[in-house]
Amino acid sequence: SFEEYKNSYKQSVNDPEGFWSDIASTFQWKKKWDHVLQGDFKQPQVKWFVNGKLNITENCLDRHLEKRSKQTAIIWEPNHPRDQPIHLTYAELHEKVCKYANVLKENGAKKGDRICIYMPMIPEITIAVLACARIGAIHSVVFAGFSAQAIADRINDASCSMVITTDGMYRGPKKLPVKDTIDSALETCHSVKKVLVVQRTAHPIKMEEGRDVWVHEEIEKVTSDCPAEEMDAEDMLFILYTSGSTGKPKGVVHTCGGYMVYAEYSFRNVFQYEDRDVYWCSADVGWITGHTYLIYGPLLSGATTLMFEGVPTYPDAGRFWKVVDKHQVNIFYTAPTAIRSLMASDLSFVRNYKLNSLKVLGTVGEPINEEAWYWYFEHIGKKKCPIVDTWWQTETGGAMISPLANITENKPTFATYPLPGIQPVLLDKNGDEIKENEKEGYLCIKFPWPSMIRTTYGDHERCRKTYFSSYKGYYFTGDGAKRDRDGMYRIIGRIDDVINVSGHRFGTAEIENAIDEHPEIIESAVVGYPHEIKGQGIYAYVICGDHVPEDRGRIREEIIAMVDEQIGKIARPEKIQFVENLPKTRSGKIMRRILRKVAEGNTSNLGDTTTLLEPKVVEDIIQGAVKLESAV
Ligand code: WTA
Repeated sequence: SFEEYKNSYKQSVNDPEGFWSDIASTFQWKKKWDHVLQGDFKQPQVKWFVNGKLNITENCLDRHLEKRSKQTAIIWEPNHPRDQPIHLTYAELHEKVCKYANVLKENGAKKGDRICIYMPMIPEITIAVLACARIGAIHSVVFAGFSAQAIADRINDASCSMVITTDGMYRGPKKLPVKDTIDSALETCHSVKKVLVVQRTAHPIKMEEGRDVWVHEEIEKVTSDCPAEEMDAEDMLFILYTSGSTGKPKGVVHTCGGYMVYAEYSFRNVFQYEDRDVYWCSADVGWITGHTYLIYGPLLSGATTLMFEGVPTYPDAGRFWKVVDKHQVNIFYTAPTAIRSLMASDLSFVRNYKLNSLKVLGTVGEPINEEAWYWYFEHIGKKKCPIVDTWWQTETGGAMISPLANITENKPTFATYPLPGIQPVLLDKNGDEIKENEKEGYLCIKFPWPSMIRTTYGDHERCRKTYFSSYKGYYFTGDGAKRDRDGMYRIIGRIDDVINVSGHRFGTAEIENAIDEHPEIIESAVVGYPHEIKGQGIYAYVICGDHVPEDRGRIREEIIAMVDEQIGKIARPEKIQFVENLPKTRSGKIMRRILRKVAEGNTSNLGDTTTLLEPKVVEDIIQGAVKLESAV
């Protein structure tokens, strides 16, 4: 009940160590910890379950075997509805993970090595992730939509010694190459010694002698006996790259003990998973949501987790709902962008299905607008299912602010209250805590939690600067939020130079760097603008010289090709405006605030423009934007 939540919350603040120690005690440890929590945000250096020893896969798999060996762990729904789904029991998954782990070892992988996983949504991606964790290798999953260049950057940053991939992939009506992309990425990666290839599309690919091996052949050579490596609670479990407001994406590091405890705790509480429920998280394993709430959280809880290879609109816009009925899904977790895109199709796609197995719905990744919230609530949940709007980040490891299904209240567009153990605050411009309600501020976290980011791989100073230096003693989220009368939080969105496109994070600098590689482009500035389906779209202003060039069509296409090549199609700018100049302050800083307003089409109130070097530049840009609008 709500009372219990409040008591639990109070206890977690008054005695955090006692609170987390009780929860951590429910797991299987090879050796118990000496201290629950050490350190603070200053260095930052925070350690949880100090000197505790464990292996997360024993907690995901082995410890369930006694009671759940025959229970389905993973249901896999393939891209094409005509193909057969796969059900893997806990016993089968355990066996497969052990075999894969032995294949990794046979091919030279060992504890502490970094292994890049670049695969579509097939059961083998989950098996690969767990196999790494089994032997203590650090997985770095790269979303299968990233380009060769983006993969190479990530492999090189972490000096990965191995890549696990597939020959190809299916996505809706398309068959796409995967291994070819890895081949071009590896032209500039010298740390990679082995590439393990899982067969999916069985189309011809190049296999490099001595480097590339087929997993289905390697599996034949190993046993299923693979004892789990003993890991320290603070040993790295994985790296996951994410974009920030400056420079290249950074490798967010999560560790074994704290991440395990919080992944399970938050999964169980947010979704109120009950034995035998079928749970479906539609996120890709390439993002943090896939890590925490498709793989680790559910498996740690002994749940049945569904993974879907395809897309929501293939073969038609009813696919999600078809899958819900087919597998009798009880809990469904997706992104607002998916809801908005399905909302745009005819309601008959929903009405064809019963959807009566659903008990709980969830969203993640971006603010959900009121219209999408109500559509989801009425048409999918039939007004019976609570919606857990979970706010969190790659860096937080798990959901931080969210309703707990059927326990705490829902309020459309509000992430509502923090989970027990999480202490959010709103800060004002001066870094002072705003104590009153009905106020807006910078969202920060005041006290460590078990699954918090430990470092950014290979560059601890970057971690300190990005998250722990803006406001001394706080973790800074980069989001703005407001608190209502009852103390419920509503997330407003990023207040830094991060754009959230369909729930995918991109730094404006990252996209600008890609565009600036074009030989005819002198400078560019990228901002986000409101997009009906994607939440935010990417708007690029580019300068080619003293005047706007004639052959804009060609340059536009070339810009898109550069972005495809350096980041991936998911980062393509939607709108490109050629300008002669960018609005800058006297000290040469681009005034993004103004560019954002123009991109939004909101030019009536541009705010203070007195610090602009050349006010006329803004006039020209507004004129150009008007023309651009009418040209679309
Ligand atoms: C945004 C995804 C509003 C936010 C788990 C955050 C949200 C960024 C919500 C992290 C939500 C995530 N409501 N905004 N429920 N969930 N965000 O690292 O801006 O891919 O900072 O993690 O997504 O994105 P990331």
